[in-house]
Amino acid sequence: MEFKDTVFARRSNRFLLEKPLKQEEIDYILSIAFRAPVALGRYGDVKLLVITGNTLMTLQNEFVKVNGNDNTYGGSALIVVLHKGTREELTNQDAGIIGEHICLAAADINIGSVYLHSLVDMMNENKFINKDLLDINSEYKVMCAVTLGYKANENVRDIEHKFDVKYYN
Ligand SMILES: Cc1cc2nc3c(=O)[nH]c(=O)nc-3n(C[C@H](O)[C@H](O)[C@H](O)COP(=O)(O)O)c2cc1C
Repeated sequence: MEFKDTVFARRSNRFLLEKPLKQEEIDYILSIAFRAPVALGRYGDVKLLVITGNTLMTLQNEFVKVNGNDNTYGGSALIVVLHKGTREELTNQDAGIIGEHICLAAADINIGSVYLHSLVDMMNENKFINKDLLDINSEYKVMCAVTLGYKANENVRDIEHKFDVKYYN
């Protein structure tokens, strides 16, 4: 897609199918994530978890159990951004940029996505999730995630969200 078309196509799509994504689609999305800028070039501090299949189903069930709803909107792949850096003002921004790269890559190949923060505390605090299921090394913190899946419908259209802009000359 043209850059502008990709950006316009990226909207949070909360109606995602369970049908598994193709490996080449996941590889494409990761190849874009790997081109995100990271503060001080500390790429070694970042880790991505790509969660699919039975592990994702177990995770989704745990979200429903703990939280009353599935924070991933039933997607078929969840990419979780972990960071082990200590400067929170930078690690949060790294994660946000990586998450947005993932969302844009998905939009580029017509895959639905939602950038997620709602599951962060649960994933950092719930031992069944972070130890038993995902075995996340304790030096890492979950920063954000993106849920991905084929779109159940196409009713999410381009919309321009206006920011207040002030010009100086
Ligand atoms: C930092 C951040 C955290 C977000 N967390 C969530 C979330 O936990 N759950 C959710 O459904 N959407 C989440 N969103 C998506 C926003 O609600 C959404 O991007 C916004 O309403 C604009 O809609 P659009 O993505 O369709 O353009 C998050 C977005 C950002 C940037």
